[in-house]
Amino acid sequence: MKLTTPPRNKKLAKTDLFVFLVRKGVDLVIPGEIKIPALAKESFSGKTREMRLTDATKGPAKRVLLVGIGNGELDKEILRRCGALIAKNAEKMGVNLITVGHDLDGEANAMGLGQALTEGLIMGSYRLQHFKSKNKKISLERIRLVCEGEFKKGVLRGFVLGEANCLARRLQDTPANRMRPCDLVKEARAISASSDQVKLKVFDEKAMGRMKMGSLLSVSRGSQEPAYLIHLAYRPKTKSRSKVCFVGKGLTFDAGGISLKPSAKMHEMKYDMSGGAAVLGAMAAVAQLKPKVEVHVLVPASENLPDGKANKPGDLVTAMNGLTIEILNTDAEGRLILADALVYAERAIKPNSMIDLATLTGAVVVGLGHEYSGAMGNDATLMEALVAAGKCCGELVWPLPIHPQHEKDMKGSVGDLQNISGPATGAGSSTGGAFLKNFVGDIPWVHLDIAGSAWGAADRDYQGGASGTGVGVRLLLEYLESF
Ligand code: BES
Ligand code: ZN
Ligand code: ZN
Repeated sequence: MKLTTPPRNKKLAKTDLFVFLVRKGVDLVIPGEIKIPALAKESFSGKTREMRLTDATKGPAKRVLLVGIGNGELDKEILRRCGALIAKNAEKMGVNLITVGHDLDGEANAMGLGQALTEGLIMGSYRLQHFKSKNKKISLERIRLVCEGEFKKGVLRGFVLGEANCLARRLQDTPANRMRPCDLVKEARAISASSDQVKLKVFDEKAMGRMKMGSLLSVSRGSQEPAYLIHLAYRPKTKSRSKVCFVGKGLTFDAGGISLKPSAKMHEMKYDMSGGAAVLGAMAAVAQLKPKVEVHVLVPASENLPDGKANKPGDLVTAMNGLTIEILNTDAEGRLILADALVYAERAIKPNSMIDLATLTGAVVVGLGHEYSGAMGNDATLMEALVAAGKCCGELVWPLPIHPQHEKDMKGSVGDLQNISGPATGAGSSTGGAFLKNFVGDIPWVHLDIAGSAWGAADRDYQGGASGTGVGVRLLLEYLESF
């Protein structure tokens, strides 16, 4: 998508469709000498989500779409959703260029509103179209958004976040035979090529063997596709005292391994790399927004399949930090690949805080549904920061406990740990978190279980339905704002 931001005082250029946001109860004055039939104007109330399409009778626009945004306190979510409605309608009408006008530059939270509207415009125009043999083309390619001041600052940020969200969703939605671990490496390479401040390191299986990542490598042994550990590092131009690390589960397909999953919804397991997609999307945004903090992104990338060399229930592996793990269920593989990535982060990167995102457990879907990510960790301040960031950007986070009993339940009888707890424990998401806690050392850390929020969310215009949500990208960037 191309976005331009002409200033208010500039004469409006010709446009297929002029979209105007209308507050309820405010006299409707369309700018740029655009005239529409009196009836269209009179019968439009401006209540939230009301829409009216009409031909223009005069001025630089062919048609005009009025969009109501209500009269209450303007909420970012309303604008995000209105932005998406606009994009969807423009696409349906087959227009290539829209111009969006409003009178929100002077609002108290102009920056937040500009950001939300633009996120909605970009996220609402997301489509996975290029695998179709026909009608591949997406008609809406250009948005002109008239704005200035703080609102414009928000628009520019919203554009980057919207595009990064769409990047994450494209990675998620791409079928697993087209988004293998090696394809994630290619995507990471493209992100690093987009900025001289983002450097890429890729560890192949040999290199991971040298680092003694026995836990991660045991998972990829069951597949023909080689595993990789992707490490992207962004460094600000002026040296920063803080360093954060985002780790994303990059399981490009999870069949369960020898503990094979039932076939009913197995195709959804192409989404098991959603954590990886989120952190790569976040790095794509970081490369553009250039925050003042050092940001590292890790993606352990692998498949989990039942091949001849696959893990067998009862097998014992040794992680990079020397802990031995008895694999009682080969389908609890996310924690096995994350374990080594977290140890690598703790030892090689030594961040001030660390957040992992993973589609780790079906249990989090049962507990929290699709509108929340479940959060567990070892640091109350970091947890609070993430919950607050979630409220601010609309990607909600709900804390779950790691009780000492959960940690006990993950102790092994043969090895130090086992990768699942006994059947009587319950708390499937918390025990997953309890397992990971063994690999983060003393680093303040939060684990986000995004198995519910990464796809399957209710329709919110800009996301939801049968595609990935790109959850995590906007949340992580909001968290970085606290530095
Ligand atoms: N990728 C799955 C988690 C998952 C399941 C995400 C369903 C979304 C929907 C993960 O690797 C897994 O299989 N976890 C097991 C853990 C169990 C064996 C302790 C699960 O949740 O069933
Ligand atoms: Zn699994
Ligand atoms: Zn999995």
